[in-house]
Amino acid sequence: MRSELTAGAVFSGIGGFCLGLERQGISTLWAIENDESAVLSYNHNLKRTDSLMAEQPLRDIKAVGVKANNLPPVDILHAGFPCQSFSQAGARRGFDDPRGKLFFELMRLVNEFGENKPSVLLFENTPFLRHGAGGQWFLEVQKQIQKAGYWFSDSSCAELDLFDHTELPQQRNRLFMVAFLIDRFKNGRFSFPEKSHANKVKTLESYIDFSGNKQPQYYLPKDNRYCKMIEAHVDGQPRIYQLRKYLVRKKDVGVCPTLTANMGQGGHNVPFICDGQGLRKLTEEECLALQGFPESFEFPTDIPPHKQYVHIGNSVSPLLAEKLGRQIRIKIEEERL
Ligand SMILES: C[S@@+](CC[C@H](N)C(=O)[O-])C[C@H]1O[C@@H](n2cnc3c(N)ncnc32)[C@H](O)[C@@H]1O
Repeated sequence: MRSELTAGAVFSGIGGFCLGLERQGISTLWAIENDESAVLSYNHNLKRTDSLMAEQPLRDIKAVGVKANNLPPVDILHAGFPCQSFSQAGARRGFDDPRGKLFFELMRLVNEFGENKPSVLLFENTPFLRHGAGGQWFLEVQKQIQKAGYWFSDSSCAELDLFDHTELPQQRNRLFMVAFLIDRFKNGRFSFPEKSHANKVKTLESYIDFSGNKQPQYYLPKDNRYCKMIEAHVDGQPRIYQLRKYLVRKKDVGVCPTLTANMGQGGHNVPFICDGQGLRKLTEEECLALQGFPESFEFPTDIPPHKQYVHIGNSVSPLLAEKLGRQIRIKIEEERL
């Protein structure tokens, strides 16, 4: 029989990690998120076991304390900590950026549990975290996690691409880090999910409607200069086009590029398709499906579209989270002391 496992969600966003882990019977006891529209969307869709957010949904991690907020101990603490300052594409300010410093708040919270620290830490970030600043960022992350009493080394990390590990056609390569508490495990070895579905044909048409009957706001006006740039590359195949700087990138048929928070801010990296009606961006529902959210997931009606795209782009895919949850459950059930 499966044991009951519990989780705490730091930087929970709209709940990608939580949804996936809950499919493995890992219940969320509490969650921390400071973006109001993400909190509303989370509350709208997830089972409510967390009393913290029920009382006060808006929480900046800097203002949360284990004692002050009465956070119950959990088996797994997960966090996709903000990655903008560690991204290869950004200014690479790392821990000098206030968003980068939130990693230390995360570790403060872990340490505040004292004798009751989570058995497992599951973190997500950009793969460049391991390489930036000549490896110094990763050494700092490693130092903090080890200092808190966890098995953690380079082999505790893996880059997992959604395209290789799920049936989804989205290329989304992210760094996952899994650390086990030294007091509760004899070693830190972890079997990351194996690649699967790699040989399956992933059709974009299963996720995107190419028939051309969307609302006008999704379409680029014909006289828009970006529309003209992209149109010059359109070849009638069911594929995605992206503007990268001032170039049009034509993705392979059947492949969706990484959906990023930029989708909500306009400009570069926004994926476009050409359907029967014209050139358009993907709808919010299509993006949710390409991230592996269930059909039942919906945003509250008052969340503006640009925020919805930001939250989807920020999310961990529930499908990959479920696979990680399964491997963590196995390790806990077989090896926890
Ligand atoms: C990469 S997203 C996390 C995605 C999420 N883990 C999931 O499973 O889908 C990072 C989140 O951290 C939130 N965040 C940023 N600064 C924060 C802070 N100071 N306190 C709490 N949450 C914060 C952002 O609003 C964003 O939703």
